[in-house]
Order: sequence, then C-alpha cells, then structure tokens
Amino acid sequence: MKNILFASSECVPFIKTGGLADVVGSLPKYFDKSSYDVRVVLPKYNCMYQKWKDMMQYVDHFYMNLAGEDRYVGILTCEYDGITFYFIDNEYYFNGFAPYDGDPRWNIEKFAFFSKAVLSILPVIGFRPELIHCHDWQTGLIPVYLDNFRYLGEYYRGIKTVMTIHNLKFQGVWDKETVRQITGLPDYYFVPDKMEAYKDANLLKGGIVYANKVTTVSQTYAEEIKTPFYGEALDGLMNARANDLCGIVNGLDYEQWSPSKDGKIVKNFSVENFRKNKPVNKAALQEELGLEKNPKVMMIGMISRLTDQKGFDLVDYVMDELCQDAVQIVVLGTGDAKYENMFRHFAWKYSGKVSANIFYSDELSHKIYASVDAFLMPSLFEPCGLSQLMSLRYGTIPIVRETGGLKDTVEPYNEFEKTGTGFSFANYNAHEMLNTVRYAEKIYYDKKRDWNKIVERAMNADFSWKNSAGQYQNLYKSLIGE
Ligand code: GLC
Repeated sequence: MKNILFASSECVPFIKTGGLADVVGSLPKYFDKSSYDVRVVLPKYNCMYQKWKDMMQYVDHFYMNLAGEDRYVGILTCEYDGITFYFIDNEYYFNGFAPYDGDPRWNIEKFAFFSKAVLSILPVIGFRPELIHCHDWQTGLIPVYLDNFRYLGEYYRGIKTVMTIHNLKFQGVWDKETVRQITGLPDYYFVPDKMEAYKDANLLKGGIVYANKVTTVSQTYAEEIKTPFYGEALDGLMNARANDLCGIVNGLDYEQWSPSKDGKIVKNFSVENFRKNKPVNKAALQEELGLEKNPKVMMIGMISRLTDQKGFDLVDYVMDELCQDAVQIVVLGTGDAKYENMFRHFAWKYSGKVSANIFYSDELSHKIYASVDAFLMPSLFEPCGLSQLMSLRYGTIPIVRETGGLKDTVEPYNEFEKTGTGFSFANYNAHEMLNTVRYAEKIYYDKKRDWNKIVERAMNADFSWKNSAGQYQNLYKSLIGE
C-alpha cells in the first residue's frame, strides 16, 4: 500500500472557486484502493459552509514558526465519500470571506503557512506519505520546504513530490526579501535557478524546480507552456524541466455529472432518449429565466469565471451581430466587473433572448448543461477546461477555440466524414468565432439529423477519471515503485 497526500487550496464539496476544486474533489476517488491510500489536506476556511465544519473532528494542535512568530496549527479531520480529509486550522490566516483576497502579499503568507503546516502535521497525524501531490502555486512551497526539512532528520527524507499546474497564470509572486522573511527559508533558495524569477520570489517556480515530476492538465497545454505566448514568462523553466513534465487530461466525476440520474434537472435523459427528453429541460429553463418560450430556437450556454482567460472580449465584440441570429444566450458566472456588466447590458438590450445570471449556482449550472443546445468556450488559453466535458456528457455541443484541453477533448465536426463531437476554431479572432457559431447554427437548423448524431457521439465520449487516474498511477509508480 502506498500513501499519497494531495495538498490543495480548494476541493469540492468543501470549498470551490474554480476547476481545481472539481479535480481535487474527484480524482482521489478513482485510484486503485487496494494499492493506494490517497488522502487530501486543505485549509479550514472560515467561509466554508457550517455543514462541512460540523463534520470535522479535532485531532491535535501545536505551534509552528512562520513570519517570525509561533503560529497555532490546528488539525481537523473527516471522512467523506470514502476519502480521508485533513484540515489545517488557523483563524488568523483563514478567516476571510473567500479563500483568496485582493492582497497578494497576504495570500502568499497564508499559503506559506499552509505549505509549511502540511509538512509539519505529518508526524502528528501518523500518515507518512510516500508522495505529496501538490496543486498550483498555493502549494508550491511544499517541495521547497521538503528540501529544507531533509536536514531535520530521517522522517522527511525520501518523500517524493508531484507538482500539478492547473493554471500557469497564477504563480504567487512577491519581493524576495518579504518572502524570505515570511517563509524563514535561507538565502540559498532565493536565486534564479531556484525560487527567484525576474528579481522576485516565485512560489510556483519553487514548486516546479523542486518537485520530482511536474504535470499539467492536458497534453496540449503541456506543450503550449514551453512557448513564450503561453509560458507566462516561465517557458524557459518549462523547457528546462521538459523531461519531467507531462500532460494528463482531467476527467469528470461521472457520478456527479450524469444526465440519466442528475437530481438537479427537470427531466433525466440518456443517449437513447435525449431527442424527446432534453427539450423538456429546455422549456423549463426558458420559463425559469424569462426567455421567449420556443422549443425550436438554438440555445447557447456559457458558464464560467468571467475573466480574460475565457475569451469574453471576443464575445463582447460580436455580441450585437450574434443577437441578430435565431439564438438564445444564457450566461452563468461571476468575475471581472467589466464582463459582469457587459452581460447585464446585453440581457437588458436583448431581453427575452439573452439571460445574464451573474452569480454562482451549482444547481442552475446543471440545468443549463441539460437544457442548452450548444456551449461557447472561446478561451484565450485553457489548461484543461471542465465545462466542455460537462457539456459533452449532457449532449450539449461545445464550440471552442483550439487551445489546451479544449483541443484535446473536443473533436471538430467533419460534415463529409460525419465525425466529431463539437465545433472549433484556431485563431483568437472574434469573427472567426462568430463564423464557427454560425456554422453550428446552420447544422442545427438545416441538418438536424447530423446535429443529433453529433449529440450522440458527444454523449458517448468517455472522459471519466478511469483513464487519467491510471496515468497518474503510472507516474507515481515511476517515483515510488509499486
Ligand atoms: C484551472 C484551469 C482549467 C482547468 C482547471 C482544473 O481552473 O483554468 O482549464 O480545467 O484548473 O485543472
């Protein structure tokens, strides 16, 4: 039996701001339980729902030095869905209204605390992992502290690490002197071949340099980040570590996302009966959102963090043109004020046709995936993307830009060979996107049989975790054996 510890700043169902939480919340369940004991450690945020906090049981506490002071480290635990979770408690650091806040220096101190605490609790919880699987910059200091902790004695020696990059855009960068003071790490680490990048300290870089293996969440993104356009100024490092870098595409929790048994949608459906049952959901959604009731009109969904990454400036650019077509558009999500207001504006201008839902709702997201005909995701970059996987599963046809995981998971429709599960375009160009949407409209309205065949292929595509969890197991094997 091999012990694996996932360290992450978010995890479904306890706390979520993005796709990272979905991945960390589902992947651990799909390892071979007879060979791997996979557990997860998270911060205990004050902003978690009380219902989750009520499940946690106190284990122990101690004090640990950070930023020149002894800090309380409380340990809580619970079991959920067959997985053991640990939570690190410190109300000074984790009392905000959200996991991250606007002050980058504070975020760095918070997750430096978390990273050091993850290693420090191990002897106390009696779970010594053979391998720690770190996710994103918030856990980038774990491999660095591990290197530093080796000198403390036998216990930490030989623990391996994997660093998974869910989004290279976020790196945890602040000036060297401050980070040195916060972390208490020696000067030795604050040089350009270690944690320093462009004169600053970079936590993700530390993780990438010190982890035994580095992964990202699709093969295409693993290639893209070796280039300046996608490399977020770390493309040199990505090339340097190319031999230890690979892409493993995310899976989807097929238990949670299943149109045939989803309790959040109005009418369940499957690949056999979507023609009859999916429109029931559509009618209910039009009613619920105050859109014109029309079973024939093509509905396009967008569910996303409303940020530049997701390509909403392209949507903004051609939205007036798109709204001349026979389409309805449904948006769900929160993010940058400029995009929130843009969608509110279009919902006002094209009322009955455009619905802007500027909030977060898991329930409404299920209803939208189950109802709309197509899903638009014109991302500037996309490490993996999960919404297109949810769309495919619910027979909602993704229209995507060919980047990162979108390229790896959506096969473009070929009208001559009758293949493909979606529509895609290559360049980050608003009219290229619009033309692709209009091509999809044409198939939807004029070749309904072909459209329904695309839906069948989409629903039959397999993006369950089975395959990808197997790839992670092989990666672990290469580091810690069987
Ligand atoms: C980040 C990426 C997204 C990816 C997710 C989970 O949110 O932006 O593309 O799917 O992490 O790995």
